[in-house]
Amino acid sequence: MEKQQLALIIPAAGKGERLGNQVPKPYLKIAGKSILEHTLTRFKGVSGLGEVIVSTSEEYLLQTGELLKELFPDIATHAVPGGRERQDSIKNALGKISGKTGLIAVHDAVRPFVSRNDIEKCIKQASRWGGAVLAVPAKDTIKVAGTDLEIVKTPDRNTLWQAQTPQIFWAALFREAYQYAEVNRFHGSDDASLIEKMGGKVVLVEGSAKNFKITYPLDLQIADFLIQKEG
Ligand code: CTP
Ligand code: MG
Repeated sequence: MEKQQLALIIPAAGKGERLGNQVPKPYLKIAGKSILEHTLTRFKGVSGLGEVIVSTSEEYLLQTGELLKELFPDIATHAVPGGRERQDSIKNALGKISGKTGLIAVHDAVRPFVSRNDIEKCIKQASRWGGAVLAVPAKDTIKVAGTDLEIVKTPDRNTLWQAQTPQIFWAALFREAYQYAEVNRFHGSDDASLIEKMGGKVVLVEGSAKNFKITYPLDLQIADFLIQKEG
């Protein structure tokens, strides 16, 4: 099978409310570089990568466009305005992707520790099945709670996984899922859930806990520690 061209979408338009910093998370600096730059650097030289699109807030559009040109001088790059929800930001980016792209990967701007090996593993499974998502087995027992915080049920932990990104899909399937979600006014907290909603197949690819999402202040401290340590 001929190698398919891959487009990468990076949603970076969030406000970072749980972190509670003035500067949005992707633009916080660690060791002199923004978290977005650390994340993008992980994808430099990934085989088949032909386009990179970052959705971001208006005030960061220009600098993000410059950063993309600097990091990926040989491929098509775009910085586009984000939307209200993560899903809206990704929809805006989708509009820029060219017709020759066979696979679309979505990766959070705030997961700077994804490894090249895990990216490649995920690409391989996505090409094969239509959709693939990096994930780790749930470490804690997960409870389902009612509004009053009373425990409603405890699903068997052996069946539970924490979904990460990248989440990678056949481009046609991905576009169809976004269309389907729009028509049915469905909002999912990740991209795979949109494909699942339509009845599409998505597989999990076991990744690493190191690919955590910088969400709370403790995550930022850990990220800072890991980046300083790597030098
Ligand atoms: N994101 C986005 N557009 C939005 C919301 C989120 O592009 N409207 C991006 C974020 O910038 C981040 C990724 O989606 O890179 C994952 O979202 P999350 O960790 O929830 O980031 P925030 O939404 O910024 O944080 P919070 O939910 O704490 O406000
Ligand atoms: Mg959010």
